[in-house]
Amino acid sequence: MKVDVLLGLQWGDEGKGKIVDVLAPRYQVVARFQGGPNAGHTLEFDGIKHVLHQIPSGIFRSDIQNIIGNGVVLDPIVFKREIENLAKYNLDLISNLFVSKKASLILPTHSLLDAAYERSKGDSKIGSTLRGIGPAYQDKVARLGLRVGDVLSPRFAEKYQKLVDAHKAILDYYSFDYSAVLPQSEENFFAAIEFMRQFKLVNSEYIVNDALAAGKTVLAEGAQGSLLDIDFGSYPFVTSSTTMTAGASTGLGIAPRQIGEVFGIFKAYCTRVGSGPFPTELMDETGEKMRQEGREFGATTGRPRRCGWLDLPALKYAIMINGVTQLIMMKVDVLNIFDTIKICTHYRLADGSLTEQLPYDLCDEAVEPVYTEFKGWSQSLEGIHDFDAVPQELIAYVKFLEEELKLPITFISTGPDRQELISREAPALLGA
Ligand code: GDP
Ligand code: IMO
Ligand code: MG
Repeated sequence: MKVDVLLGLQWGDEGKGKIVDVLAPRYQVVARFQGGPNAGHTLEFDGIKHVLHQIPSGIFRSDIQNIIGNGVVLDPIVFKREIENLAKYNLDLISNLFVSKKASLILPTHSLLDAAYERSKGDSKIGSTLRGIGPAYQDKVARLGLRVGDVLSPRFAEKYQKLVDAHKAILDYYSFDYSAVLPQSEENFFAAIEFMRQFKLVNSEYIVNDALAAGKTVLAEGAQGSLLDIDFGSYPFVTSSTTMTAGASTGLGIAPRQIGEVFGIFKAYCTRVGSGPFPTELMDETGEKMRQEGREFGATTGRPRRCGWLDLPALKYAIMINGVTQLIMMKVDVLNIFDTIKICTHYRLADGSLTEQLPYDLCDEAVEPVYTEFKGWSQSLEGIHDFDAVPQELIAYVKFLEEELKLPITFISTGPDRQELISREAPALLGA
C-alpha cells in the first residue's frame, strides 16, 4: 500500500480539513506530518463546525488511527484544550490518537520568542500566528529542542529549565518582558504535560510502516500551503516547515517511493493571511466582496484574509513541486455572486515580457498579473451533487483549468458542510 498525501496548493486555508474529513472513511490511518497549532482546519457536519489545530481531521470517524507525526511541533497546552473540547463527542481518543515521541515540543517561551522576533521586525514582520512555530523548529534544527518522548524522562523538568533559561536570555536581549505571563503559562504547560502522558506516545514511523505492510490505507494531512513552504514559499514570508509532499516523507518516516496519490487542494480564488507578496490581491471592493462572501477570517487567529483572483503561475508551481495527481477545487460557491470571474494566466515583468514562472523573489520583483475573463454563472449551486447539473459557465471554468493544469479536478466543493460536494471521480472526465 501507499500513503496518499493531501495538501494545500496556495497560502493555506484552502479547505484541507473538510476534504480530509470527507475522504477519511477510505482510510484506516490519518496522519499530520508538519506544522502545529498555526493550522486551523475546519470540518462541518450535522450543523456543527469544528476547528482542529493539531489533532488530525480523521478524528471524528471511528476506527481510524490518527497520528501526530514526528514532523509536527506540538503545543501541549493547545493539545489539552483541543482534547477537552472534543470530550462531549465521546470519541475514543485514548485508543485512536497516537503522538510521535519524535515530535518537537512548543514551550511557552517559544510563543514569546515569536512575539519578540516579530516586534523587532517592525513593518517587515511576517504576520506569524505567534504560536511559537518558528522558534520551536529553530530549536529542533539547532539540536536544542525538547521532544514529546522527553516528557517520559525523569529529567524532563531539568531539560526544560535549561532550554527556558536560554530563551530568557534571548528575550532579555530583545527587551521583551515575560514576567507577567510566563508563570501562568508554565503552570498550564506542566499540567498539559501531565495530561499528555496518558496518551499513546509512540514511535509513529513503525505504526505507519506496519500499517502499510499490513495493507492498510494511510492519508497524510498537510497543514499550511505550498506557497508558505520554508524552501519554495515567498521567503521570508513563509512558515518554518516543509509543507510540500516531500514533507510527508520526513515528517512521518516513510520512503518517497511509498507516496501514492497526491491530492492538491485549492480555492477557486486565492487568500493569504499575514504579510508577503500576493500578485493577484484585490485591494478594492471586489476583494472585500470575496472576503465577506467566503467568510475569509482566519480559523486560528480570526484575522481577515487578504483575497484575490486565482493565480495560475503560482498554482502550476505548487503542482510541480508536489507531484500532484488530482486536484480538488474549493469554495466555488463564493464566486456565485460575480458577473465576471478572472484567472491570472501569466505575470508581466518590469521589462514588459510575459512569464508563467514565479520569479526568484516575488518580494523584490514587481509582477503584474495578466488575466483571462470568464462569464460568471450567477446562480446558487446549492443541492447540486452531480456535475451534469452544473451551470455551463462553471463547466467552462473547470474545463479551462483542467486543460491549463493538465490534471483532473475530481471534487468541487460548494459549501462548508461535508455534504456540499460535487464528485467527478468517474473515469470519464469532462469532455471525454
Ligand atoms: P484549512 O486550513 O485548509 O483546513 O481551511 P480552513 O478551515 O482554515 O478554511 C476554510 C474555510 O472555508 C472554513 O471556514 C470552511 O468551513 C470553509 N469551507 C470549506 N469548503 C468550503 C466551500 O466549498 N464553500 C464555502 N463557502 N466554504 C467552505
Ligand atoms: P492551515 O493549516 C494560513 C501563515 C501566517 C503567516 C505565516 C507564518 O490552517 O492552512 P507561522 O505562525 O507559521 O509563523 O506564520 O504563515 N500561516 C497560515 N496561513 N493557514 C495556515 O494553516 C497557516 N499557518 C501559518 O499567517 O503569514
Ligand atoms: Mg486553516
